[in-house]
Amino acid sequence: MSIMKKIIIFILILGCIYGCTPTPQHKEESFSLNKNRIQVKLNDDIDYLSYVETDDDLKNEIKYNEIDTSKTGTYEIQYTNQKQKQTLIVDVVQMYENSIFNPLDINPEVIKNPEDITSLVNKVYQIPEGWVPDDLVTVVDSHQQLRKEAADAYAQFYNAAKEKGIQCFAISGYRKEETQKLYWTRQVDIRGIEYASLYSAYPNRSEHQLGLAIDVSYKTTGDRLSESVEDSDIGKFIVSDGYKYGFILRYPKDKISTTNYGYEPWHMRYVGKELATILHEQNLTLEEYKEMNHENS
Ligand code: DAL
Ligand code: ZN
Repeated sequence: MSIMKKIIIFILILGCIYGCTPTPQHKEESFSLNKNRIQVKLNDDIDYLSYVETDDDLKNEIKYNEIDTSKTGTYEIQYTNQKQKQTLIVDVVQMYENSIFNPLDINPEVIKNPEDITSLVNKVYQIPEGWVPDDLVTVVDSHQQLRKEAADAYAQFYNAAKEKGIQCFAISGYRKEETQKLYWTRQVDIRGIEYASLYSAYPNRSEHQLGLAIDVSYKTTGDRLSESVEDSDIGKFIVSDGYKYGFILRYPKDKISTTNYGYEPWHMRYVGKELATILHEQNLTLEEYKEMNHENS
């Protein structure tokens, strides 16, 4: 074959390869939000694009509505570009010290899985109206109640503590909605809304109504649920060994901004051994774990 023919064939092959290769598409103009829901302080400015994850040049093409932060309540920001729409829920709240907010300022999301032992209930996620656990039993050495699985785990925890010579007194387990309402109202009346927001859950937003939370103490009289529980043997045993029985210390001292409750060294939450071990080993709250795993409630 002559050199000329070879060159022509080479050019033809090249042309075919080039011609058959699909033209590069425009990069997918997608974006995501780094949060589903946020709480902002009354009258604060919002940095709208700080919640958007995408290339910097694509950020400028995203449109969004602004919200009025001069009134408390739950709002939506819709972010759109030509391809997508994403929604960020924003609760505009009165914030007290440590970013604690007033639960009355927001419209909570009703959880779909109250029977799930890992379900998240807090100021933002509430138990469906009228839901009550159907497997409550009395816990060992007390009149308090928990759901059967949690009560069995509590008995193991209680016995393990006893074997070490540690006394554990159950102070408050399952609560009916009316009981939680009484506690909340009493706190607001006696100590004010700020204190109530720190230590008491609004009715239907308490884990005690799930039948999976129990407050314990080292004594049965006087100020039983106070920070002195932290230094007691049972307070220490909750932190060191609770997870082995499926319990976590739900409101730790250094996680107030993620749980949005004050330190409660007495409040144990049953989530099962598997999740309790993960949370213990990784030093995570239930809120942090759910957010990391994109599971809400
Ligand atoms: N003390 C906790 C937050 C409750 O009332 O459920
Ligand atoms: Zn409690």
